[in-house]
Amino acid sequence: IPLPLNLYGERRINARGLSLNINAQLEPLLENIHSYDQHLWSGKPWLAESIQLPTVSSSKVFSPFDQAQQVGEMHWTSPEQVSAALDAAELAFPSWNATPVIERAACLYKLADLLEENMPELMALCAREAGKQLGDGIAEIREAVDFCRYYALQAEEKFAEAKLMPGPTGESNELYLTGRGIFVTISPWNFPVAIFLGQTLAALVAGNSVLAKPAEQTSLVASRCMELVYAAGVPRAALQLLPGKGSEIGPLLTSDSRVAGVSFTGSTETSQVINRSLAARENAPLATLIAETGGQNAMIVDSTALPEQVVADIVESSFTSAGQRCSALRILFVQEDIAERLTEVLTGAMAELQLGDPRDPATDVGPVIDEQAKKGLVAHIDKYRTKGQLIAETQLASELSKGFFVAPVAIKIDQLEELEKEQFGPILHLLTYKASEIDQVIASINRTGYGLTCGIQSRNEQFAAYLDSQLRVGNLYINRNLIGAVVGVQPFGGMGLSGTGPKAGGPHYLLRFATERTRTINT
Ligand code: NAD
Ligand code: ALA
Repeated sequence: IPLPLNLYGERRINARGLSLNINAQLEPLLENIHSYDQHLWSGKPWLAESIQLPTVSSSKVFSPFDQAQQVGEMHWTSPEQVSAALDAAELAFPSWNATPVIERAACLYKLADLLEENMPELMALCAREAGKQLGDGIAEIREAVDFCRYYALQAEEKFAEAKLMPGPTGESNELYLTGRGIFVTISPWNFPVAIFLGQTLAALVAGNSVLAKPAEQTSLVASRCMELVYAAGVPRAALQLLPGKGSEIGPLLTSDSRVAGVSFTGSTETSQVINRSLAARENAPLATLIAETGGQNAMIVDSTALPEQVVADIVESSFTSAGQRCSALRILFVQEDIAERLTEVLTGAMAELQLGDPRDPATDVGPVIDEQAKKGLVAHIDKYRTKGQLIAETQLASELSKGFFVAPVAIKIDQLEELEKEQFGPILHLLTYKASEIDQVIASINRTGYGLTCGIQSRNEQFAAYLDSQLRVGNLYINRNLIGAVVGVQPFGGMGLSGTGPKAGGPHYLLRFATERTRTINT
């Protein structure tokens, strides 16, 4: 079994000393990344060969770090193409589902190799279109590679052979897994390769025909990935790409009675819209919804923790990827005895962060995804700035004003309840607590209704075990950061408002994309 690439890739591991220098890993790739950076990319809907309809509209794509830089041009899927893609997916399902799982899995192994070969180009495109800083870019492509190999292996293990069941003499009984039908996968922009491919390939290798709807902000990355997917041997009708605006294309897909399941990663609000759309279908089969959504992720730091050690984990959890990870730390609870010292060290660490061009290896924090995101984050920060509650803020150089940059901030708040929603950016909220108030802290975290990641920083094992038993979250991290779950190592996903499960990169994930069938033969 291959070890996940990201065991050696994520900066969390580097910080722990297993692989010390992300720049040393980037170094051999840099020349290639920069030569691809000159390209203009072109994207289009990838439809079954049988579909011959003109594309109706296209638009130029610009970089979030500099709106003067064109990344390429994207063509959008028309409603007629969506309808034709559904027809083609329906036709494709029986033969793809009947394709031996070993052959389906072979496409994923091949794709893993192609992704590795094309890593510099994909990193360049992620930097240009999504504003992904290079350290994030390398981890992103490695995660996609890990998903390919892990799901291929899981499919071979779980789908290749039927399970023989007991029965009376003269009767054979077997149980096996098979695809559900047409699966729609809807992905976010913040992991435009790893999550886009992860959920799409899981649906595909389980035997479904798949319609993939990428985030509109990162459709060029998705389109380039599709070229590699087809080069890996996946038939064009079995997997089609439908780039377009979620609010326009989404309802056409989720309201169609032929759709057997939706795998969605994105905001909690959109998952609720999709849930309602699937449920409102009349005379349609009950559809499966797999939703991986947002979080209000907290970390609790008690007085036994050493501020110097903890701050590195806080900074990484809050500001990596400009805070644009569902797993990122949003709310820090610090026991009041160490709050002053910790704030001092945190302020110093935040002053060291470099905001800048994501293609520069020296950059720690790149831009946020678009103008709308920037406006929302800045409005939230300004509300607290006016009230004098900003504790620390990284400096934003004036030349970055042409991009969608938001400087990392730490904000003192009075209670968790005042935060109405997830702030998807580099904003850390800080609260202090007294030792006697720990049960109120736990209750306030659980009351948010979210349950994605949570951190505990303490050298008191009993205290950590108590918190562990009380907190309702999907991924709990003790004495480390909150981000960078590794495929097959930390299966990832939340509960409550944070998602339905099963966990991505875990052994039960593929099962939800399949349905069980029992075959009984009177011999
Ligand atoms: P989003 O909900 O705005 O969009 C996600 C996808 O849904 C996009 O492809 C979008 O086009 C599509 N969409 C929008 N409206 C739709 C509709 N009516 N019907 C169907 N599809 C529709 O989310 P985003 O801004 O792209 O991503 C950020 C969010 O994703 C954050 O809340 C973050 O926490 C969450 N996220 C969660 C995970 C996880 O694993 N739990 C991972 C990454 C991101
Ligand atoms: N799986 C991603 C992480 O853990 C979202 O950061």
